[in-house]
Amino acid sequence: MKFTIATAIAALSTFALLSDAHISFRYPCPRRGPYSECPQPKDNEWQLVDYDVQSPIGTYNNIQDPICKHPSSFDGVRPVFQAGQVVQTKMDVDVNHLGGSCQWALSYDNGSTWVVIQDQFQNCMANAPSSSTYTVNLKIPDDAPTGNNVILNWLWNNNEGNRELYSSCADIKIQGTNGGSISGVKPLYANYGAGSPYIPEKAVSGGNWGKQFFDARPSVTITVPAQKVKRQIVEMY
Ligand SMILES: *[C@@H]1O[C@H](CO)[C@@H](O)[C@H](O)[C@H]1NC(C)=O
Repeated sequence: MKFTIATAIAALSTFALLSDAHISFRYPCPRRGPYSECPQPKDNEWQLVDYDVQSPIGTYNNIQDPICKHPSSFDGVRPVFQAGQVVQTKMDVDVNHLGGSCQWALSYDNGSTWVVIQDQFQNCMANAPSSSTYTVNLKIPDDAPTGNNVILNWLWNNNEGNRELYSSCADIKIQGTNGGSISGVKPLYANYGAGSPYIPEKAVSGGNWGKQFFDARPSVTITVPAQKVKRQIVEMY
């Protein structure tokens, strides 16, 4: 076979298809994702749209992106979740890598501290069909404090394939108690850069899926100050 520019381009685009698309949030909207129902870029922001929003943020020896790949969402309405609500989140699935372990975490301080609110170990996304929008229930804790600038983060370590960490961040609001605290464990960031905990491929490791690392996650309590009640000031002349 003659090696031509056309075959080179074909090879490159096949590689791009295989390597570029896996899983991200679709609802709530991932920051700067390309979805028509999500907050849209302004005229000068089109180059910020992330068409690669489903790709992992790093591997066991390389950090490609921070935990929240983008520092913010496009301006728009954030979904409001109630404390105690079961939210039907939607995942944009390309391939499921035979499932893996998911963690969902909240941050009330712009990503400085996180608390895990839900885990699903070993079989998370295993039943998600390829090229589908897949619903996953997420329970917002009953004691989640109110927050107008809360980040919801979904993390996933896949069972099969490259040793990667997937992460999707969505900006949300929570209505709960006005001021309070929420406790749990800190998220595990495995397969995410040199020296990070290494979770092997489950299929070739006798079933080791990293339980020891998830069990060792340290506790954390996040305290959210009460918000001042807005008063309407009526000025009289
Ligand atoms: C939140 O953090 C990002 C970095 O991740 C930063 O760029 C942004 O300015 C911060 N936003 C606020 C409101 O502090």
